[in-house]
Amino acid sequence: MSEPTIEVLIDANTLQARIAELATQIRKDYDGKPLVLVGVLKGSFLFLADLCKHLDNNVIIDFLQTSSYHGGRSTTGVVQIRKDVDVNIEGVDVLLVEDIVDTGTTLSHLIDLLGTRKPASLKIASLLSKPEARRVEVPVEYLGFEIENVFVVGYGLDDAEKYRQLPYIGVVKDS
Ligand code: IMP
Repeated sequence: MSEPTIEVLIDANTLQARIAELATQIRKDYDGKPLVLVGVLKGSFLFLADLCKHLDNNVIIDFLQTSSYHGGRSTTGVVQIRKDVDVNIEGVDVLLVEDIVDTGTTLSHLIDLLGTRKPASLKIASLLSKPEARRVEVPVEYLGFEIENVFVVGYGLDDAEKYRQLPYIGVVKDS
């Protein structure tokens, strides 16, 4: 069987330019105050890496990991915490960094969970959003791009763990 082709949806330069804009907004909004960036693994690793390079020394980086897809392409609706954050977020500003908001289930669960730990504020940065797929509304303060309801890969996003290394967002065209 031949390798599927990947059609570019958002190229690397466009991604980087938008991430720089989001970082400018974040710097302005937090204005040097301590800020914990919490990357949602694994999909956000490249977005968080590129975003944080534009930020200052007020930033602390942490990660958590959920599981709800179990390698498939559609959500099961059940969100489990596989790896929790290491830092104490009580009383500090927290920015959850996500790759994509699809149904909204994951982020809505994480907002409830992290909210119980009493952060000073809890906001969301997501590289992508598929508004048509939404089942639970979640407020995304810093959004990279809205896309159509298609399954995308690259720049951290996977299809059964493949394609995360691509520097762009693409759509898998099965041959
Ligand atoms: P939600 O809970 O349905 O919003 O799903 C969020 C998670 O599903 C994301 O963090 C991704 O890991 C995964 N996901 C949703 N859509 C896609 C996609 O198009 N490609 C790859 N992963 C996706």
